[in-house]
Amino acid sequence: MRIVWIAAEAVPFVKVGGLADVVGTLPRVLAARGHDVTVILPGYAAIDAPTTRTVRFQHAGASHQAPVGELHDAGIRFLFPRVAGFEGPQIYSGWQDGERFLRFSAAAAALVDADVVHVHDWHAALIPVLAAMGRVRCAATVLTLHNVAHQGQMDADWFLAQTGLPASLLTIDALEFYGKVNVLKGGIVFADAVTTVSPTYAGEIRTPAFGEGLDGVFRHHAGKISGILNGIDIDYWNPATDPLIPARFSAADIDGKLHCCEALRGELGLDGRVLGCVSRLVEQKGIDVVLDSLPDIIAAGCSVAILGAGDPILESRCENAARQHRGRVSFSRGYDEALAHRIYAGAEAFLLPSRFEPCGLTQMISQRYGTPPIAHAVGGLRDTIRDAETGFLFEGANPGALAGAIRRFAAHRDIAAMRHAAMTEDFSWTASADRYEELYRNLTASG
Ligand code: ADP
Ligand code: GLC
Repeated sequence: MRIVWIAAEAVPFVKVGGLADVVGTLPRVLAARGHDVTVILPGYAAIDAPTTRTVRFQHAGASHQAPVGELHDAGIRFLFPRVAGFEGPQIYSGWQDGERFLRFSAAAAALVDADVVHVHDWHAALIPVLAAMGRVRCAATVLTLHNVAHQGQMDADWFLAQTGLPASLLTIDALEFYGKVNVLKGGIVFADAVTTVSPTYAGEIRTPAFGEGLDGVFRHHAGKISGILNGIDIDYWNPATDPLIPARFSAADIDGKLHCCEALRGELGLDGRVLGCVSRLVEQKGIDVVLDSLPDIIAAGCSVAILGAGDPILESRCENAARQHRGRVSFSRGYDEALAHRIYAGAEAFLLPSRFEPCGLTQMISQRYGTPPIAHAVGGLRDTIRDAETGFLFEGANPGALAGAIRRFAAHRDIAAMRHAAMTEDFSWTASADRYEELYRNLTASG
């Protein structure tokens, strides 16, 4: 099949969170299975790719032309349309993103000639709408929801002027959302199939507590929404070969893990059993819940190693906690790939009190490194952690519930067995790639 993926991030080019891991990994698996795979990303300034063509597209009432960078890697063709708005260093830039990603989507749509177009999150959710209007050369569209908290809401008249789409789309069963346009809603309504990144999240978003205002839309379209669990790149995230950790180890030969734990304590100046936390610092991830449980964490003989960047208020709360609890809390501000590996390998457990978690990759990575996750039982966390066997699940993202789970960890008699069970779980992409292939095949067969 000729498959085109369109998204805002992909490793190894640009990464903010797990979206980049998924878009950088699953297409490789599909290409290895013999499909013709193209991945289209914005032509960010940081991406160095030779220009091989130009793309012509309509946007904001005019025709435009943009150079397109192109790279080939792992059997995939990567295309980077260099449209206006992506010249700076930032991947996302707040209020300007509506304009940036609508323009990117218009250019990307003009590059497509495929059986299946698979788009990700609101940044590319305009494409299924354009396809439904006959403006994209493809047989079927798939939209994957990585996080429904971000929707691309914008002024309706401005949207029509940017996209040239008809005002007839501004109805409650199409793109209209409380008087504005909601691009994600448009993608959900018009895509041939919609997937979420875990089965539990597919059910959760039909409820007001998780639907971010779109729960009614999800209930209405439930028939075409399914959950397909993410995997991780098990060759990259492999403690037996990882060059970024101080010692290598595996389920069969765990000595290196103990060395990594010792090294991490020394590096970060922490006492006790280190609980790791590698995260974007945003409300979703519940880092405030960790900070509010510190007295209990310390009383349980543990310390916390936090690596993250994001909301300045959460960053300064983490900094204060590290200052107040020297030897028990360390905070490393920023995005640091190598330190993330050392924490996955060198922590004794991993904290994930996320308020919601569409899938989550860090609990899978930490399990692969023999570090049992202690996690709120939501979304993909529920689907990838077996309570008391490969980690600890708790109900309710609040300090009391987290502290209770940490006490269960501290009192657990056989962490070695849990570590072994976690390390031997199958988090590869194989099963999920089967599901996506089946979905693509069904869509193109019926189309
Ligand atoms: P989300 O996409 O919501 O941020 P995921 O768990 O799906 O959450 O993916 C997070 C990805 O980003 C993981 O690969 C994790 O290792 C990485 N990551 C997050 N924060 C940092 C950081 N500060 N430094 C290095 N890697 C990070
Ligand atoms: C989003 C979600 C996260 C998921 C990732 C990749 O960033 O917050 O839960 O793992 O996308 O699908």
